[in-house]
Amino acid sequence: MNLTNEEKQSLIDLANEARKRAYAPYSNYPVGAALRTRNGHFYSGVNVENAAYPQTMCAERVAIFKAVSEGEIEFDVIAVVTNNGGSPCGGCRQVMAEFGLDTIVLIADGDGKLKKEMTVADLLPEAFTPKHLL
Ligand code: THU
Repeated sequence: MNLTNEEKQSLIDLANEARKRAYAPYSNYPVGAALRTRNGHFYSGVNVENAAYPQTMCAERVAIFKAVSEGEIEFDVIAVVTNNGGSPCGGCRQVMAEFGLDTIVLIADGDGKLKKEMTVADLLPEAFTPKHLL
């Protein structure tokens, strides 16, 4: 997947815009995510925390679940934005891996600056995937 800098930046900007809607009153660590599906559609997500802390849902999974619930399961690229350019958690890596190891992951900071770019396979080596269940 070859992405232009403009394509990358606009996805990061979409994630950062979504991040303003993060519901993170406990951690004060707002996260925004945005993905582009193979069909060219965009879905964003934010972390949604809960007073019962473990019920919190990460931004990446919200974006992925929104896409899947609309019938889209192939993703070209997903951008994740946090204040400090934090990396996706292990649970989100596993959920990304379910839908493709080649998906590009863009990690950006609160200024919308791209800090790292890799594939899901890079983020989760030796991933357990649907193929293992065949
Ligand atoms: N968080 C995400 O949304 N994505 C990640 O990949 C890492 C963590 C959220 C969960 C929680 O609301 C806050 O960041 C602090 O852990």
